[in-house]
Amino acid sequence: MSEAAQTIEIVGVVGAGAMGRGIAQVGITGGMQVLLYDAAPGASVKARDAIFAQLDQMVAKGRLEVDAAAAAKQRLTVVDDLKALAPADLVVEAIVENLAVKQEVFRQLEAIVGPDCLLASNTSSLRIASIASACQHRGRIGGLHFFNPVPVMKLVEVIRAPSTDDRTVATLVEVGKRMGRVPVVVQDSPGFLVNLGGRAYTQEALRIVSEGVATPAQVDAVMREAWGFRMGPFELMDLTGIDVNFPVSQIVHEGYFYDRRLATSPLHQLLRESGQFGRKTGRGFYEYDSEGKAKVPSPDAISSTPPIRRVALAEADDALGELLRSLGLEVSNFDDGEGPIVCAPLGEDCSSYAARKQLDHRRLFALDIAGKLDKRLTMMRAPGARQNLLDGLVASLHDAGRAVTVIHDSPGFIGQRIAAMVANLGCEMAQIRLASPEDIDRAMTLGLNYPFGPLALADAMGVGTVHEVLRQLQEITGDDRYRPSLWLRRRAQLGLSALTPD
Ligand code: NAI
Repeated sequence: MSEAAQTIEIVGVVGAGAMGRGIAQVGITGGMQVLLYDAAPGASVKARDAIFAQLDQMVAKGRLEVDAAAAAKQRLTVVDDLKALAPADLVVEAIVENLAVKQEVFRQLEAIVGPDCLLASNTSSLRIASIASACQHRGRIGGLHFFNPVPVMKLVEVIRAPSTDDRTVATLVEVGKRMGRVPVVVQDSPGFLVNLGGRAYTQEALRIVSEGVATPAQVDAVMREAWGFRMGPFELMDLTGIDVNFPVSQIVHEGYFYDRRLATSPLHQLLRESGQFGRKTGRGFYEYDSEGKAKVPSPDAISSTPPIRRVALAEADDALGELLRSLGLEVSNFDDGEGPIVCAPLGEDCSSYAARKQLDHRRLFALDIAGKLDKRLTMMRAPGARQNLLDGLVASLHDAGRAVTVIHDSPGFIGQRIAAMVANLGCEMAQIRLASPEDIDRAMTLGLNYPFGPLALADAMGVGTVHEVLRQLQEITGDDRYRPSLWLRRRAQLGLSALTPD
């Protein structure tokens, strides 16, 4: 950033709801004076009480010094008129998500604050440019997109609209740091960074379930146990609420002019229409009991048949052979015409694999060896697979101490497919210059609690592998949804890391 940041001492916060009070709290703990205003009578006072209670709790937990809490409280002033924000160096707006109402507030603020005062919106779905279009001096307007709950979520997206000055961006970055957040500069775009980047994980999972490949519980177990995500996509959607994540999906899809890669599924809409929003309604993808505990059907295959000890490899594959031997199986390179044949395809489904290699599809079983293999294995079979062979294989994997998720045929199983889509979207965000590659990974880990950023995920899987999984998915399904990002394609072609800048 070439421009020096301007000094911000007084921050006005408009809107004292869930977000406004959080922003006010990190403002005062960050050493700034905060003037808090809300149009609803009593709302700011209620917010102040809640903020003070939060600070007291931090003191009780030893996370804030008594003196620091007292000083922070001194820095908060509740005001009951927008005009009282006149001395502010920066005003952050966190009111109702309605463009006309926000534009009106920004118009009013322009007439109240000084010429150097910056104006920022915390909107999550509107364009900063749309809000700024109602104003005269647009260079001083940008976005400060915090995450809920603000004091806990470290990320803040600093949104640069086409007319936002460099100095405004530099100043908002500094303010974000003083508030104890990690700022990431993002272009003004539908869903900004995190709300766009988060689409792939849940929407590909919805696709997999909609295709009848697996159940939500199976997808969640695989993504947690074999791919290291803290929550499965369905648990996550139930937690955020389908009334929230479905409209975000729609906004992002529409905002990118119906790019197939961003489409959600009718199943998502169905749950929203039926009022099954997740935890908050007691039912979403899962049912919740009165204590909020989810009733999760078992994701595990069961088998009561004797284990099968000998398998044939579909083709020479050192990694697969080694895995199977480590699981106690006798591995042969020759098919005896009766026993199971095992393969480990990348992005290919069992049916395509069997057809391409002219193998007996009834005896062909595929293992996903792209994820972590120490707890849970995913096994896939083509239509018409022999149940007795499947059961025997499951039994042998159980003997080796693994849980097994058996799914229907799917190019890329569960994990390869979802991981490749997450990585591809990360690459696309880099390609369209939404933010720098490092910031994309930083924002996705901090904003979504992912264990790794999408570009680091691409590197961990292998950029070439991710590209191959998507290429297969695109070819087999004929769906443009799986179109690899040019960012990914070029780095795969050149053998580079996904984090390599242009
Ligand atoms: P909220 O409904 O909890 O609070 C909004 C507050 O704004 C209310 O207290 C209301 O009285 C006040 N308000 C409405 N119109 C006003 C006006 N014209 N002037 C002054 N005050 C007015 O809403 P929440 O959740 O705090 O959201 C606020 C903004 O933050 C929205 O733009 C939302 O999209 C965005 N946001 C919300 C997140 C969330 O998880 N809740 C996350 C990130 C952004």
